[in-house]
Amino acid sequence: MRKRSGRMLASKWVKTAALLSNREVAMHIPATRVLSPGNLRGMLAAYGMVVIKPIRGAGGLGVIKVTKHGGRYSAKYMSQTRTFRSFSLLYRHLGRIRRRRAYLIQKGIHLATIGGRPIDYRVKFVKKAGGWRFRSMVGRLARPGLFVTNLCRGGSRMSAAQGIRRSLSPGQVDVKKQEMRHLTQVATSILETRFPGIGQLGYDYGIDQKGHIWILEVNTRPQ
Ligand SMILES: Nc1ncnc2c1ncn2[C@@H]1O[C@H](COP(=O)(O)OP(=O)(O)O)[C@@H](O)[C@H]1O
Ligand SMILES: [Mg+2]
Repeated sequence: MRKRSGRMLASKWVKTAALLSNREVAMHIPATRVLSPGNLRGMLAAYGMVVIKPIRGAGGLGVIKVTKHGGRYSAKYMSQTRTFRSFSLLYRHLGRIRRRRAYLIQKGIHLATIGGRPIDYRVKFVKKAGGWRFRSMVGRLARPGLFVTNLCRGGSRMSAAQGIRRSLSPGQVDVKKQEMRHLTQVATSILETRFPGIGQLGYDYGIDQKGHIWILEVNTRPQ
């Protein structure tokens, strides 16, 4: 049973679906679909920029940013950007990176940046005898040239306060930290009801250039 729920929770799709059941939390989840040519075309038409990622993935591996501008498509993977003049050429290229893994598509969030580098936040929430406790909240700044902030891909760690101050404004620090803590509590109660037995969660929060908070993913076995 333990094993089964552990495997189920590796799925970003299953966790996203659970969180979408709550109205308040759903406002902070980027639109998400399973990757298919039709869904990708539709989401690119709607958002211009999307991120596609393995349903069972970690460490920023296999995460690709796809953009459409005019009739051209581009795909950024690691530090390489390739441009294509047709959707089918784009899709063939994505297939080479995906290697048959199941993927999802997410609306691309224009994350707030510092010196042009996107930043997001990891909030660790851990269950102790007395209930859930916050263990840490840190900012992660993408390595120059990358859009993923993962520390194992060269992202650098900084305090959440410093990250918010420098990417948004000093006046937003307390408000945004409090909003992330509140969302963490609400989302955790939903996840715990659906998946009893979870004890450690790592939330990846993006804050866009307008200050809106987005849940990019929830890790059930955070590093
Ligand atoms: N929807 C998105 N919009 C913009 N950037 C994103 C989006 N989703 C993920 N990213 C970037 O990619 C990184 C890795 O994605 P994530 O969903 O956390 O997968 P992983 O399990 O590989 O860490 C994030 O930390 C963030 O920097
Ligand atoms: Mg992550």
